[in-house]
Amino acid sequence: MVFSNYANLLSVLFILFCYLLHVSIGIDTITSSRFIKDPETLISKDGNFTLGFFSPKNSTNRYVGIWWKSQSTIIWVANRNQPLNDSNGIVAISGDGNLVVLNGHKQVIWSSNVSNIASNTTSQFLEFGNLVLLESTTGNTLWRSIQQPSDALLPGMKLSINKRTGKSVKLKSWRSPSDPSVGNFSSSTVERQKILEVIIWNETRTCWRSGPWNGGVFTGIQAMTMAYFFGFQTGDDGEGNTFLYYTIQNDGDFFMYHLNSKGILEEIRWDDTKKEVLVTWTSRESECDVYGICGIFATCNSLSSPICSCLRGFEPRNIREWNRNNWTDGCVRRTPLQCERVNNKSTSRKEDGFSKLQTIKVPDFAEGSSVTSDICRNLCLKNCSCLAYSQNDGIGCMSWTENLLDIQQLQIGGLDLYVRVAYAELDRGRNMTIIIIITVIIGTLIIVICAYIIWRRRSNHPAKLWHFVKSARKKNNKSFQLFNKGGSPEHYTTDNEIGESPQVKLQELLIFDFEKLATATNNFHLSNKLGHGGFGTVYKGKLQDGQEIAVKRLSRASGQGLEEFMNEVVVICKLQHRNLVRLLGCCIEGDEKMLMYEYMPNKSLDAFIFDPSKNKLLDWRTRYNIIEGIARGLLYLHRDSRLRIIHRDLKASNVLLDEELNPKISDFGMARIFGGGDDPVNTNRIVGTYGYMSPEYAMQGLFSEKTDVFSFGVLILEIVTGRRNSSFYDNEHALSLLGFVWIKWREDNILSLIDEGIYDPSHHNYILRYIHIGLLCVQEIAVDRPTMAEVISMLNSEAALPSPSSKPAFILMKSMLNSKWPEECQSSSSNNNVSITEICGR
Ligand SMILES: *[C@@H]1O[C@H](CO)[C@@H](O)[C@H](O)[C@H]1NC(C)=O
Ligand SMILES: *[C@@H]1O[C@H](CO)[C@@H](O)[C@H](O)[C@H]1NC(C)=O
Ligand SMILES: *[C@@H]1O[C@H](CO)[C@@H](O)[C@H](O)[C@H]1NC(C)=O
Ligand SMILES: *[C@@H]1O[C@H](CO)[C@@H](O)[C@H](O)[C@H]1NC(C)=O
Ligand SMILES: *[C@@H]1O[C@H](CO)[C@@H](O)[C@H](O)[C@H]1NC(C)=O
Ligand SMILES: *[C@@H]1O[C@H](CO)[C@@H](O)[C@H](O)[C@H]1NC(C)=O
Ligand SMILES: *[C@@H]1O[C@H](CO)[C@@H](O)[C@H](O)[C@H]1NC(C)=O
Ligand SMILES: *[C@@H]1O[C@H](CO)[C@@H](O)[C@H](O)[C@H]1NC(C)=O
Ligand SMILES: *[C@@H]1O[C@H](CO)[C@@H](O)[C@H](O)[C@H]1NC(C)=O
Ligand SMILES: *[C@@H]1O[C@H](CO)[C@@H](O)[C@H](O)[C@H]1NC(C)=O
Repeated sequence: MVFSNYANLLSVLFILFCYLLHVSIGIDTITSSRFIKDPETLISKDGNFTLGFFSPKNSTNRYVGIWWKSQSTIIWVANRNQPLNDSNGIVAISGDGNLVVLNGHKQVIWSSNVSNIASNTTSQFLEFGNLVLLESTTGNTLWRSIQQPSDALLPGMKLSINKRTGKSVKLKSWRSPSDPSVGNFSSSTVERQKILEVIIWNETRTCWRSGPWNGGVFTGIQAMTMAYFFGFQTGDDGEGNTFLYYTIQNDGDFFMYHLNSKGILEEIRWDDTKKEVLVTWTSRESECDVYGICGIFATCNSLSSPICSCLRGFEPRNIREWNRNNWTDGCVRRTPLQCERVNNKSTSRKEDGFSKLQTIKVPDFAEGSSVTSDICRNLCLKNCSCLAYSQNDGIGCMSWTENLLDIQQLQIGGLDLYVRVAYAELDRGRNMTIIIIITVIIGTLIIVICAYIIWRRRSNHPAKLWHFVKSARKKNNKSFQLFNKGGSPEHYTTDNEIGESPQVKLQELLIFDFEKLATATNNFHLSNKLGHGGFGTVYKGKLQDGQEIAVKRLSRASGQGLEEFMNEVVVICKLQHRNLVRLLGCCIEGDEKMLMYEYMPNKSLDAFIFDPSKNKLLDWRTRYNIIEGIARGLLYLHRDSRLRIIHRDLKASNVLLDEELNPKISDFGMARIFGGGDDPVNTNRIVGTYGYMSPEYAMQGLFSEKTDVFSFGVLILEIVTGRRNSSFYDNEHALSLLGFVWIKWREDNILSLIDEGIYDPSHHNYILRYIHIGLLCVQEIAVDRPTMAEVISMLNSEAALPSPSSKPAFILMKSMLNSKWPEECQSSSSNNNVSITEICGR
C-alpha cells in the first residue's frame, strides 16, 4: 500500500518535472549549442504558434512542424516527405550553419539547405509563425520558413510565379489528413496574358480558379466583400517574379488560407469562445466552383436547377446526356456567326452582335490588353476569332478566342461578359422578351381586375378582409393555421394573398386588437411618440410580455387609404432581410389602422448624422457598414426578393438603426411591386420626399429601380458629409448639397465638405470613393446611374470607378424648389454657367 502510494507520488512528481521542463523550453531561438528534442517545443513571441514534433491522426510517424493555437492546425511541416519513425528526433543548427532535423542516428533528414554559410547562425521563431535562420553577428536573414510554404498561406507569405523561368512558389496539399507528404493538389498565382489569377491544380489539371484579379479582389469570388477587409496585394520584384500576398489590418482578426488534402482552399479563423478553428470560406461554396463543370459555352448558376445552362444562342451538343445532367460535352452555337459566313460567300446579312451577361465569373484563358472600352468592343467585333470580351477598369480589356469554359453566374460582384452571337439570336431574344412582357402585362391586368372586384366587395368592412382571407385559406386547406390562446393575439400565416410568388416563405403575422395597442402605448401618449412617418405617427409601445414595439398609427385623415395600408402589410410581410425592418403585426378596427414593427432603440439615421452632438458616434467603419447595409437591403428589394420592389421613399429618416447600429430600411407605404420588365413605370400620384426624389420621378412621375438608386446616392452623400440635402443652402452659389459636392469634387477639394470633427485622414481614400459612388448614383440621367448590384460591387472592390458621365440632378437649390412640372420649367439666371433648362424632363 505504502509502496504503491510512494510510486504514485513519484510518478506525479516525474510528470510535473517533465511538464516544467517542457514549459521551460518556451524559448524562441535555437543556437548551435541549444537544440530541441522530441517532445520539446519552441513557442513564438506572441504565444500563438508552436514549433515542435507531432504525429498526425492515425499515424505513428513523427514530423517537425509549426502549428497555430492547437495541434490540429498544422501550418508548416519541415520533413513532410521524410518522416521520423521514432521519437528520437532533434531540431538543431548543424555544423554547416543550416537548420536541420536529425533522426536518432544523427542523420540529417531535412535541412534548410542554405549553401556557403560563413558565420555562426541562430534560428528564431518570429511572429505569424515565421521561422528564420539568421547570421548571429550581422542579423541577416538567410532563410525563412514562409519562403517554403507547406499547405497554408499566412500573412506576408508570397505565392509567386516567375515569368522567365516558370518557377513558382506554391501551396502543396497533404496526401491525406494523416499523411503530410506532398499530395496531388497545389495552388498558386498565375499570370497569363496579363491576367492574374489564383489556380488550384489536381496534379497538372486546373480544378478551381479565382477569376481575374482587378487590383482589389478576385472577380470570380463572390464572397470577397470589401477589399479593405481582405488586404490582398500583388507585386513584381523586377526579376520576373509576380507575387501575391495578403496582410492583416492592424485591428483585424488573424486569418489564414489552407489547401486541404481534397484540393479545397479554406479560409480559417480562430473562434476564441469555442477554442477551435472556424472555416469562414472555402473554394467549394457550390458545385459551380468545380472547374468547367458545365462544359464549354455554358454557365453555372448555383441557385438554379439544374445548375448548368447554355449561353444565349447556344444549345447542348449532346441533348440526351445534357438532360441527364451530364454536362461534359457543353454547348454549341445554334446559328452560325455572320462573320464566318462571309468566307463562304453567302448572302451577307445583319452583323453579329453581343449578348450581355451581368455579374459573371468570366471564362478561363482570357487575353488581356489595356485598350479603352469602346475599342475593346470594336476589336472583338472586327476579329471573327474573338468569341467574347469583357471590360473592367481594374483589369482593362479582356477577349477570348478559345472555347469559353468555366463561366459562373454570381449573385453579386463579378464582371459583365459580352458573348458574340449571330444577329438572328439577338432578334430571337428580343421577340422572346416582347412575348414575356405581353404575357406579364395581361396576367397583371387580370390579377388587378380580380383584386379590384374583391376589394370593392369588401372595402366597406375592412376587418372582414382578414376573414375573407381566412375562409379562403380554410377552403384551400393549405398550410393555414389558426391559434387562439384565450385573448392573446391570433396568429395567422399570411403569405401571398395578393402577390403571385408561391416561393415566398410563410410568415406569421399577428393581428392585435386596438385596446391592447392603446394599453401598450399608454393611450398613444405624446411622451411615447417616436416620430412622424409617412401618413402617420409612430409611437413606442411595450406589450404585456415586455417586448418593445413601434406602432405606426395611420392618421384618419391621411392620404394612406386601405390600399396603401394593405400594400404595406403585404409587401413587408413577404420580405425578410437583415437590412429591412420587420413587421410584427397589424390592427384594423373601424377607422383605425395600425402597423407594429420591431422597435429600434437607436431610432433613425437622421437622428445621428444630422445631429452635431451624435454625429461623432458614427465612426467611419460604422458609416461604411450602414451604407453597405442599406445597399444590400435595396438590392434585396430590387432583385433578390424575387418580387422586384421599388421603395420610392428612401431617406435618412426611413433608415432605422438597431442596437449595433445596423441599418434597416423601413416605411414601405409607397413601395411598388412589379412582376418583371425593366421599363420605367409611370404614375400620376407622385409621392415622396423632396431632396431624395430623382428628376424623372419628381417631374414626370416616371419611376424605376434607378429612382431608389438616386435616393441612395443622396443618402451616401448625406452620410459622408453629415449635411442634409433638403435643408442645405450655400448662400454664395445657391447650390444644393448635390451641386455643392459636385463642385467641390471637381475642384478636388472634398475635405472642405466634411465636418472636421468626423474627418479621419486614415479613411481619406474611402471617403473619396464613397462620394464618387454617391455622385454616380445621383446622375441626372437615369440610365447613367449604376444598378444596386453594381453599387455593391463598387463598394466592395478597390477597382477604379467610372467618372460620372452626367452631372448630378438639382444642382441649383432655387431651381429645385421652383420647378414642379415639366411645362412649368423656368429658366432663371444662373451664376455659374450651369444651364438650368437641363433639369426639365427629357
Ligand atoms: C494570438 O492570440 C491572441 C489571443 O487569442 C489574439 O488576441 C492575437 O490576435 C493572436 N495573434 C495571432 C497572430 O494569432
Ligand atoms: C483514423 O482511423 C479511423 C479508423 O480507421 C477512421 O475512422 C478515421 O477517419 C481516421 N482518421 C483520419 C483523420 O484519417
Ligand atoms: C527507423 O528508420 C531507420 C532508418 O532511418 C531504421 O534504421 C530503423 O530500423 C527504423 N526503425 C523502425 C522501428 O522502423
Ligand atoms: C539542397 O540544395 C542542393 C543544391 O542547392 C540540391 O541539389 C539539393 O537537392 C537540396 N536538398 C534539399 C533537401 O532540398
Ligand atoms: C561560433 O561560435 C563559437 C562559440 O559559440 C565560437 O567559438 C566561434 O568562434 C564562432 N565562429 C564564428 C565564425 O563566429
Ligand atoms: C494522386 O494521383 C495519382 C495518379 O493520378 C493517384 O493514383 C493517387 O491516388 C492520387 N492521390 C490522391 C491522394 O488522390
Ligand atoms: C483529381 O484527379 C484524379 C484523376 O487523376 C481524379 O480521379 C480525382 O477525382 C480528381 N480530384 C478532384 C478533386 O478533382
Ligand atoms: C457523359 O457524356 C460523355 C459523352 O457524351 C460520356 O463519355 C460519359 O460517359 C458520360 N458520363 C456519364 C457519367 O454518363
Ligand atoms: C462554310 O463552308 C464550309 C466548307 O465549305 C462548311 O463546312 C461550313 O459549314 C460553312 N459554314 C457556314 C456557316 O455555312
Ligand atoms: C484575331 O485574333 C487572333 C487571336 O487573338 C489573332 O491571332 C489574329 O491575328 C487576329 N486577326 C486580326 C485580323 O486581327
